[in-house]
Amino acid sequence: MMADKTSFVDTTVHLDVKDYYGKTLQKTSDLQSNACVAPVGPLPKCILQALKKVHPDVTDRYYGCGLAVPECLEGCRILDLGCGSGRDCYILSQLVGEAGHVTGVDMTEDQLEVARKHVDFHMKEFGYKKPNVTFVQGYIEALTEAGLEKNSFDIIISNCVVNLSPDKKKVLTEAYNVLKDGGEFFFSDMYSNGRQTEEIKNNKVLWGEGFGGALWYKDLLQLAEEVGFRPPRLVKANVITVDNKEMQAILGDFKFVSATYRLFKVPKGSPKPCKVIYNGNIAGSEDSLHFDCQYTFKADQVVEVDGELAANLTHSRYAQAFTFQPPGDSFESCGVKPKAISGDPFELAAQLQKQSAALATGGCCSTQSATCCK
Ligand SMILES: C[S@@+](CC[C@H](N)C(=O)[O-])C[C@H]1O[C@@H](n2cnc3c(N)ncnc32)[C@H](O)[C@@H]1O
Repeated sequence: MMADKTSFVDTTVHLDVKDYYGKTLQKTSDLQSNACVAPVGPLPKCILQALKKVHPDVTDRYYGCGLAVPECLEGCRILDLGCGSGRDCYILSQLVGEAGHVTGVDMTEDQLEVARKHVDFHMKEFGYKKPNVTFVQGYIEALTEAGLEKNSFDIIISNCVVNLSPDKKKVLTEAYNVLKDGGEFFFSDMYSNGRQTEEIKNNKVLWGEGFGGALWYKDLLQLAEEVGFRPPRLVKANVITVDNKEMQAILGDFKFVSATYRLFKVPKGSPKPCKVIYNGNIAGSEDSLHFDCQYTFKADQVVEVDGELAANLTHSRYAQAFTFQPPGDSFESCGVKPKAISGDPFELAAQLQKQSAALATGGCCSTQSATCCK
């Protein structure tokens, strides 16, 4: 049974953020910057189709900053940290199917009210006999206190929320605890190119809009490791521009991106590189699976993967979608070896921006370049 209230004590930051998302903002266009709506490229077809079935009252209060929907979802139990009005929960509800389940947790009642009001509408729309979504009032720093069981979720997602928390380590620790072994934390958030000044952190609007609390991306790598996750895998990144002059003046030279990372809860050790073949059986990714900024697996192609990725694939739900070959053994074909790509989201965002500019002018380029290992 899930508790609806916790004994968690609000900090001033929590109260300000609740006020911002509960009262100040009423719709996406009320945001003061483009941070929460920064585009991340075209959405996959299955997500676009699912999005079309989400009620406009829900999508009108979307404040996410990226795509927080991973692949291989059928039958999964998913938790959305800071679900807001529930847009991503209702997309995922369709993708996990009636046998799966999605729990949204948020501290702001006004946001949850919108999400809960439309449960019946969506279940009818999706043709489900009973709801596969639940919305829980609670704090992302206190998930177990909110009644969420340890080791109970296959996947955790989050869309532009971790930056709003005053205690990121607690959030990552709680996420780690409620994930099953082999589970994945797939989340989109805002990151900075350094640690912000006190003036920036103390500005309520800048914190509410995500700039004040955005982690320096190198701090995420460090925190994730401290908590027990394997090194974060960068999936996507997108430049955030600040058009508001007053905000720009306070932010000075700080730069921001929205970025999506995958964090896996898989056993520690010294994983070995290996060769893998993606079998193409993940719905929506039949031809290729974009796993991270370095690896896009084409179906039936032999690919050399680094030890960290090998560990993530073999110990997670993705194992069912791959054939693995230990190093030394050879598949018939040589393995494709992706070019090394820096894990800096600012570099990736700049590269992707260049690419889309090149595509817009009829050019062609790709970060997913690969060379044969021969
Ligand atoms: C930027 S909005 C994103 C909402 C939703 N993910 C979306 O994409 O529309 C941030 C949400 O996180 C919630 N939130 C922020 N800090 C939180 C915390 N510490 N615990 C629980 N919810 C929190 C807010 O109430 C708000 O609904």
